Amino acid sequence: EEMEKVNTHIVTLTRFLTEEQVKHKEATGDFTLLCHALQFSFKSIAYYIRRATLVNLTGLAGSSNTTGDEQKKLDVISNDLFIEAMRSSGKCALLVSEEEEDVIFFKDSKNARYAVACDPIDGSSNLDAGVSVGTIFGIHKLAEGSMGTKEDILKPGTELLAAGFTMYGASAQLVITMKGGSVNGFTLDQALGEFILTHPDMRLPKKRAIYSVNEGNSLYWEDNVKNYFNSLKEATTENGKPYSARYIGSMVADAYRTLLYGGIFAYPADKKSPKGKLRILYECAPMAMVFENAGGQALDSHMKRMLEVVPEHIHDRSGIFMGSYDEIEKVKAFHKLSA
Ligand code: AHG
Ligand code: MN
Ligand code: MN
Ligand code: MN
Repeated sequence: EEMEKVNTHIVTLTRFLTEEQVKHKEATGDFTLLCHALQFSFKSIAYYIRRATLVNLTGLAGSSNTTGDEQKKLDVISNDLFIEAMRSSGKCALLVSEEEEDVIFFKDSKNARYAVACDPIDGSSNLDAGVSVGTIFGIHKLAEGSMGTKEDILKPGTELLAAGFTMYGASAQLVITMKGGSVNGFTLDQALGEFILTHPDMRLPKKRAIYSVNEGNSLYWEDNVKNYFNSLKEATTENGKPYSARYIGSMVADAYRTLLYGGIFAYPADKKSPKGKLRILYECAPMAMVFENAGGQALDSHMKRMLEVVPEHIHDRSGIFMGSYDEIEKVKAFHKLSA
């Protein structure tokens, strides 16, 4: 009887981070420790989400956040888990969270050199239906000599040191990218409690006939946005098939599918929300970094490169179009036509 081949060449996130650290001679190990803390927060958030229905953690917390969203119980719990992970790492000087009105400064973390932005649960309106949600994060390095101020986080995405997101779906996925690097995807092995590298060097297909947008808002769209999406519906691709519409309503899940399959995800600014809905620091910029590093593009509603948008306030919003390189080129063409 032949023994089944077991794969022993497993790259865990822990190993991956250690190997990255070795590649960077100047690295102190602080960034690696910060990532270990992030990793722990992802595992615990995934754990609570999976148990939510069993332990009465569904539904609303009864409060609202700064951007006007009603908070779910799990928004609040995940935010607390994330904050505690960042505080106890000792490496995070300050944190911006969707669920916190102001920047949190970790004064006790004396030598901390990093500033983190996070959306503890993205897609929380989907939670009680068991639809995929996730966590989005962006990491900046403090300016030389800075003790940690708001300016250390109010920076464009081009300055991000690392960014990524998780998706708690049929399995928990983690996508992470570092400045100038590739995009790598990990899958949480529940039994081992480890994120395993399953999607090395993720690259978006150059084009794909899938669009992802909340069409319920089309009533409020500007003409160029309307015309662009109408053009997709009237078009057929090479194989004679029309575009497919796919919209989950969790940016992390729509983004994860788009990364793997290609296509376009958009949340345009519109007449009702002239500045867009999604927030720059912990939604748009980290996703834009992932998409660009995977060979795609990400633009705001002015057709400006998303990564170059500088937020004035920590919860500032933006319109966003992101996806396969060629699909974004089409969006640009439509905006030029009407300019
Ligand atoms: P969050 O749950 O973090 O507040 O984010 C919600 C976002 C994002 O996940 C999603 O893409 C979008 O809101 C969905 O908005 P609509 O329900 O307006 O389509
Ligand atoms: Mn919210
Ligand atoms: Mn979100
Ligand atoms: Mn959220």
